[in-house]
Amino acid sequence: MNTAVRLNEQPTLDAAKAPRAKTEKPNLLSVDQAKALDLPQMTDLFTQHLNPGQLHFMKLLGFHKIKVERAEGMYYYDQNGRKILDFFGGFGSLAFGHNHPRIIEARKTFQDEKRHEIAIAFMSQYATALAHNLAACSPGDLDMVFLGSSGSEAMEAAIKVAERAAGPQKPKVVYAENSFHGKTKGVLSITDGSLYRGQFKLVDNTVRVPFGDIEAIENAFRSDPEIGVIVLETVQGGGGIIQADAAFWQKLRQLCDQYGVLWVADEVQCGLGRTGKFYAFEHYDVVPDVTALAKSLGGGKTAMAAMIARREVYMKAYGTPKTAMIHAMATFGGIGEACITSIEALNVLYDEGLIDRTAEVGDYLLDQLRVLQARYPSLIKEVRGQGMMVGLEFHDFSQTMPLVLRPVIAMLDDKLKGSLPGFIGSHLLRDHGVLVAFTEYNRNVIRLEPPLICEREHVDQFITALDEVMSRGIIRIVKDFVTAQVK
Ligand SMILES: Cc1ncc(COP(=O)(O)O)c(C=O)c1O
Repeated sequence: MNTAVRLNEQPTLDAAKAPRAKTEKPNLLSVDQAKALDLPQMTDLFTQHLNPGQLHFMKLLGFHKIKVERAEGMYYYDQNGRKILDFFGGFGSLAFGHNHPRIIEARKTFQDEKRHEIAIAFMSQYATALAHNLAACSPGDLDMVFLGSSGSEAMEAAIKVAERAAGPQKPKVVYAENSFHGKTKGVLSITDGSLYRGQFKLVDNTVRVPFGDIEAIENAFRSDPEIGVIVLETVQGGGGIIQADAAFWQKLRQLCDQYGVLWVADEVQCGLGRTGKFYAFEHYDVVPDVTALAKSLGGGKTAMAAMIARREVYMKAYGTPKTAMIHAMATFGGIGEACITSIEALNVLYDEGLIDRTAEVGDYLLDQLRVLQARYPSLIKEVRGQGMMVGLEFHDFSQTMPLVLRPVIAMLDDKLKGSLPGFIGSHLLRDHGVLVAFTEYNRNVIRLEPPLICEREHVDQFITALDEVMSRGIIRIVKDFVTAQVK
């Protein structure tokens, strides 16, 4: 059809008067219908519209049998009213537990008062207050804040501010082996997972170093004056809860100053009190040039993320009217209800003493896990981490799995590849109502990131469950898993 011709046509009087065809409502589900979907319906819709392949993993772990009806504090409640203890914690996004009453109340009041959301035309009192709070929680002159809605977005902002401040003479970015900084196109180039990188075209100005290897970093800085930025998770989450020691971070700060390199600390997972300090880097008495928070910053109720830069770095990148809009906030950056949710969450963090409690209960969790390690040395290889960011590494059974079981496992379990965490995780959920997480790169690690409201009694419940599952011994654990799969 020739649209130009149609646009020039004058409508006749009759045509202009003709009633418009009514827009028909498509076959939409209502909120009530959404809540009422049962497991077969959800499975069907998930397969048709979301991610059919992902269902495979859910089935391996038994997660596909759960419909969460309610969540409160440390627990989910499923369709049968069963309580599920949450030691997964949304990969660190549930510091305040599920539906913290103060956070819910703040949101309800905000809605009842009909406050505004979008903060593009006018300044927002909520975004400015949240920026103030974040600067107040951050050491040194980490004062300038960019608000977004995902960890990836905050990390995109972080590498962009650093790249602009480093300048065109120093365009290269160092990142670490086994890093995870998100999956959006920019940060994909510094996320070290071949699965995620797929066939995508990555930027070519990156340099990869082993995590925690200060000599490799010094060599890179010394040999390549084009390096302007280094990006590191302070604790590697996806890598399997990996930390570097204080000497590493202190030397890193010194090398960055010496070679004029800007240090971006990714605290998306380990920040906001998770390791027993607001930022994990505070354990080492160092301050990066740029950092990023997300996950629990949304109080477990909303999507909120922040990039926080030293004022000098930010001003160099975007400090003039001419440069101010280069990476100004996106449409939903600093949206009202999300900001007040985060404001309340930060207040709760301190009012309830959650950072100190995390340090204390985290020590207890680590101690109890070490008791289990001593009881099951042939199963548990290492217990590591800090606060509520804990990794439990099992021995690699791909080598030592009893010979009789290997072919069955290989057949059934092409994705878990004989990973003991997968078997144990599925039994914990099925038999004890306990949920744990896994890591992106190390299939032998169970990742524990319970909410920071976790108390000793929850640790005891978790340890009792884990102890019972491990007491079954490897052969029963594996056979049981296999039986559940073929059922
Ligand atoms: C350290 C780290 N950085 C960045 C991200 C990306 O965050 P998001 O999934 O909110 O985009 C994650 C997510 O797991 C993360 O763990």
